[in-house]
Amino acid sequence: MNETLERWSSRRAFILAVTGAAVGLGNIWRFPYMTGENGGSTFLLLYIAFVLLLGLPVMMAEILIGRAGRRSPMQSLGHLARAAGASPHWRWLGVFGVITVFFILSFYSVVSGWSIEYLVESINGNFAGGTPQAIGANFNDFLADPLRMTFNHTLFMLLTMSVVAAGISGGLEKLNNLLMPLLYLLLIVLAVYATTTHGFGTAMAWLFTPDASAITLSVVLNAMGHAFFTLAVGACALMAYGAYMPDHQSLPRAVAAVAVLDVLVALLSGIAIFSVVFSQGMDPGEGPGLMFVTLPIAFAELPGGSLWLAIFFLLLLLATWTSSINLAEPMVATLQGAGLKRGRSAALVGVAVWAVGLLSVLSFSTMADVHWIGEMNFFDLVTTVPTDFFLPVGGLLIAIFAAWVMSAEAAERALDAGPGGFRTWRALVRYVSIPLVVVVLLSGLF
Ligand code: TRP
Repeated sequence: MNETLERWSSRRAFILAVTGAAVGLGNIWRFPYMTGENGGSTFLLLYIAFVLLLGLPVMMAEILIGRAGRRSPMQSLGHLARAAGASPHWRWLGVFGVITVFFILSFYSVVSGWSIEYLVESINGNFAGGTPQAIGANFNDFLADPLRMTFNHTLFMLLTMSVVAAGISGGLEKLNNLLMPLLYLLLIVLAVYATTTHGFGTAMAWLFTPDASAITLSVVLNAMGHAFFTLAVGACALMAYGAYMPDHQSLPRAVAAVAVLDVLVALLSGIAIFSVVFSQGMDPGEGPGLMFVTLPIAFAELPGGSLWLAIFFLLLLLATWTSSINLAEPMVATLQGAGLKRGRSAALVGVAVWAVGLLSVLSFSTMADVHWIGEMNFFDLVTTVPTDFFLPVGGLLIAIFAAWVMSAEAAERALDAGPGGFRTWRALVRYVSIPLVVVVLLSGLF
């Protein structure tokens, strides 16, 4: 297949598309509950270190491959490998990415369905004046209702796949561009509100006081996995977006802008959520329900709370929508590359992901005690293994390919940061990022 001639309409459009992929449930839902389960500051600081040393350089590697190949991930990898005299089997890395995003999207859609439910409930004013106990019980009742959860999961899958099928994600990107500043504003309002609660001081100390003694292997593994997840790196999904990157745009600069926006959302939502947690004497390690219980409590105390809560869930939904489109894209592009029509590819992917998502739905009711590995039910499994294991392995292979396998001239051109910038990036990937992932992964295995 030949190079694609399609391009994002501007440098800004490219940054927006990548930010759309990056900012999502990872920042607002996953980051706080992972931080809570992993003891606070240690996880937070490790996560930031991994974003800088690993996430950013590998993100550049991933986008650079797409930009140099200007094809679907599988085809770009095969083409660049052949051009460099390496094995065309590198293209199977694209398939590994497809497997990874398949499982991630299956639970992503279920949890995004929770946002739909909570959007509707806040419009109905269900949380107004609710006590923390009532708000907590409300969430558990919802989880125990597989029909309601399936309905929302189905709706979210339809939303995602219809945009992917129509190939109109650009339109959504623009809408996102318009509304994301509002999400930042709301998060800032929440964080300011947090400063007035008596849990704020405890939350800040808990989030930001380093405690080296709390570093354990599982905290390190979780922090590394989350750095990949939140930046959308390691599954060739950004590689697909890189193929449309305009000429004459410095990749490091674009990627740095995205990372700042991404980490900022996580920090703001962490501050807001943990202030509520400590004000209410809740357990920070409460798990995946954390955001869905704390934020309604926080908004319930603000004037006009129900309205703001509804707006918040609407914006969150929009942010997750652009992320899920990014998750679906490599699967649809790969089927399309195999000769299927776009609409049919989207339908096929949608149905398959939806069906596997049902296992996550049932993990909160009928299948709660069906354990797949150790103590993990399906939802636990699918929110852990693809993120903490598949993404780092994918990221490692992507880094090796970009820094050691493909031709240096092609990589330098695609990075577009001058010869000095290229040498710095390559040294960082070769001698810091790659050894770091290898060491962490190996210590995780043994
Ligand atoms: N980064 C998104 C979030 O934080 C999730 C996501 C979108 C993702 N595309 C991805 C994760 C590709 C891994 C790979 O919500």
